[in-house]
Amino acid sequence: MRLDRLLANMGYGSRREIALMVKAGWVVLDGITLEEGAVKLALSDDLPKRLLLRGNAIDPLPGMVLMVHKPLGYTCSHKEAGKLIYDLLPERWRAREPVVSTIGRLDKDTSGLILMTDDGELLHKIISPKHHIPKRYVVGLDRSLSGQEAPLFASGTMMLEGEDKPLLPAHLVVTSERTAVLTLFEGRYHQVRRMFAAIGNHVVSLHRDQIGDLMLPTTLAVGSFVVLTPQETAQIFSEGPNQG
Ligand code: URA
Repeated sequence: MRLDRLLANMGYGSRREIALMVKAGWVVLDGITLEEGAVKLALSDDLPKRLLLRGNAIDPLPGMVLMVHKPLGYTCSHKEAGKLIYDLLPERWRAREPVVSTIGRLDKDTSGLILMTDDGELLHKIISPKHHIPKRYVVGLDRSLSGQEAPLFASGTMMLEGEDKPLLPAHLVVTSERTAVLTLFEGRYHQVRRMFAAIGNHVVSLHRDQIGDLMLPTTLAVGSFVVLTPQETAQIFSEGPNQG
């Protein structure tokens, strides 16, 4: 891909602005200052380390996958009032092409693991109902659990209001009188909150800590993100035994 197109697509500026950066000697590949915006580059995995812009390694190439620790109060949307999940990423990434999106959504009042990517194919593979990727939630409740919830959620017959298809079996582990860990294999709108509302309880706190075998590391601070390696991305699809 042409250097000017690559950097413009990564949000560093218009092609004209990139041409000026090149002219100013700001763009260096393997220690050699590049002279032409039209130079073609192979998009190898190590390119971000080898290509420097004003002395800084460039951002991850298109095809990146991010693991974000979503804080409470942030919305997974490009255009809503208030704090947006995109505010947690570098400003220039708003201009990236292809665009960076969340893979599914977490409610404004839910914290925890949310994935983001600019890889449309990967996005569809993860959210596709065909794949049944497990998602694990730590749930805090307003009322005591009765003991009836786990068998009902696991039954495969539970219906949510306004829907005509029963929920897939879900796995509930009760961890205290008012806390539980729930693993879902699908992602319907407000699913966890609606499941508990359907049985007369109310979710007061909700945090996602795992997708597939990929766990939110305790070291990833609230509001920060990391770029996943291909090996970490593969963990989304591996079917480990560690539910609940
Ligand atoms: N279920 C919900 O109710 N909310 C979320 O954010 C995720 C799952």
